[in-house]
Amino acid sequence: MDRRNFLRSLALGTVAAGISRPAFAAERYYPTKVDQSLFENINRAKDPSNKTPLEKSHAPLISAPATVKSGEPFTVEVSVGEVLHPMGPAHWIESIELNIGNEPAGRIDFQPKGYLTPKATFTVVLSKESAPSGKITLVAPQRCNHHGYWESTMDLTVT
Ligand SMILES: [Fe+2]
Repeated sequence: MDRRNFLRSLALGTVAAGISRPAFAAERYYPTKVDQSLFENINRAKDPSNKTPLEKSHAPLISAPATVKSGEPFTVEVSVGEVLHPMGPAHWIESIELNIGNEPAGRIDFQPKGYLTPKATFTVVLSKESAPSGKITLVAPQRCNHHGYWESTMDLTVT
């Protein structure tokens, strides 16, 4: 492929991608009725001190010490919902993750049988290099099969 054909195919691909993306979003079909907008972005509690009922049951709660020492293990508990989200065969939390800033640290996958509650406990050790400014943000994403992607964050001080 010469340079001209390569650039032409690149331009056509870019145009096609721009056209097909909105069309693709409009063509999604789900087996059950859901609010599809919840699956288009990562959802967060807009006002954590005044959550909506949906936010109360889906925004992950992160429990961790506000200050940790580098090199020493500490526990981070992530639960889904102020009142734990249901875990039945039709509606359940599929996974809970923990990221250290932008880096994935761990993930727990849940099955829809209802044996487990939507809580995960991670044992974390941070190095000084992981928090060069002395601060680090824990990010806890979760996915509900009916209500999409949700995420909460918590800042830690690392000494
Ligand atoms: Fe849900």
